[in-house]
Amino acid sequence: MTLSITFLGHSGFVLSDGTHTVALDPFLTGNPVAQHKPADIHCQWIALTHGHGDHLGDSAAIARANRATVLANYEICEFLGSQGCQTDPGNTGGQIKTDFGFVAFTPAFHSSSVEGRYLGQPGGLIVNMGGLTFYHCGDTAIFSDMKLIGEIYRPDIAAIPIGDRYTMGPDLASRAADMIRPRWAIPIHYKTFPGLAQSAAGFKPSIATVKELQPGETWQAS
Ligand code: NI
Ligand code: MN
Repeated sequence: MTLSITFLGHSGFVLSDGTHTVALDPFLTGNPVAQHKPADIHCQWIALTHGHGDHLGDSAAIARANRATVLANYEICEFLGSQGCQTDPGNTGGQIKTDFGFVAFTPAFHSSSVEGRYLGQPGGLIVNMGGLTFYHCGDTAIFSDMKLIGEIYRPDIAAIPIGDRYTMGPDLASRAADMIRPRWAIPIHYKTFPGLAQSAAGFKPSIATVKELQPGETWQAS
């Protein structure tokens, strides 16, 4: 019942149960707060919330270097497949069983494209690994079905965007955490760039414990 959670900065993570490793939204090149380089990432899977550059990031290079399988929506898998990546597509509402547990695709209210190419509906990810369930909300507005997602998957940990402008800000992200009801809430998508909230001070869920991770930091959740 242990999950190693490394925060890559912005919205990126590496999750590992000691045997299996999945990278989420590994945006490193061009990420001013990143402590890792793409070559530092060793994983068997990459899971993606949507196709914007600050989430797709270095996925193609990391997937090819590791022969990792990309778990993402159909359009992103088509796109990365055409760049020589191994893929295993899904889409919103579905779940893919994996060697470590499962990855499920949840809705998000946002957009998704790269250089004008439509990359499907944006989403969030549920990753079940190491006996724990991790909900990466992706980039999104607040929406009331977050309560339903919380009831269905009972996430232990939720990574919630708080940066405002492109996603929820700290106030709405706090309300989102109260709907999802995880044990821990990790603030993401802030401080990376000017124009985003520069601190997590306003992120104050009433139930979840806030776990603020610094870029490059690893937390053993159990
Ligand atoms: Ni985005
Ligand atoms: Mn983003």
